[in-house]
Amino acid sequence: MPTDRTAPPPVDLTEAFASFTEHFSPRIAAELNGQMVKLVKFAGPFVWHSHAEEDELFLLWRGHFRMEFRDRVVELGPGQLLVVPRGVEHRPVAESEVEIVLFEPAGTLNTGDAPESERTVRDLRPLD
Ligand code: NI
Repeated sequence: MPTDRTAPPPVDLTEAFASFTEHFSPRIAAELNGQMVKLVKFAGPFVWHSHAEEDELFLLWRGHFRMEFRDRVVELGPGQLLVVPRGVEHRPVAESEVEIVLFEPAGTLNTGDAPESERTVRDLRPLD
């Protein structure tokens, strides 16, 4: 439990997304109540996966992407958000680079239950 009651500085999302270039490698923008606000950039398809214990919120900041589910596809544009419930298989796919804000429990692994791969990121970096 942090004892420092000083409010952290605001996060400027435009600047924050401009500060890194890696794809599929979420950065930690903020933490609260055991949850993390993560920023991620990517293009192309991610891996099919689900999270047994965590719901995930995707808030699209820039670009367009689709969230594929086994039974449907949801298209998202800037300013739209989507919650993927725990246990539901999903695969984000972007035709060109997108910038997405994720909100989910701190321990959520990006690739969920998918086999370990080059996409799996265990040690998230904060913003620089
Ligand atoms: Ni996921």
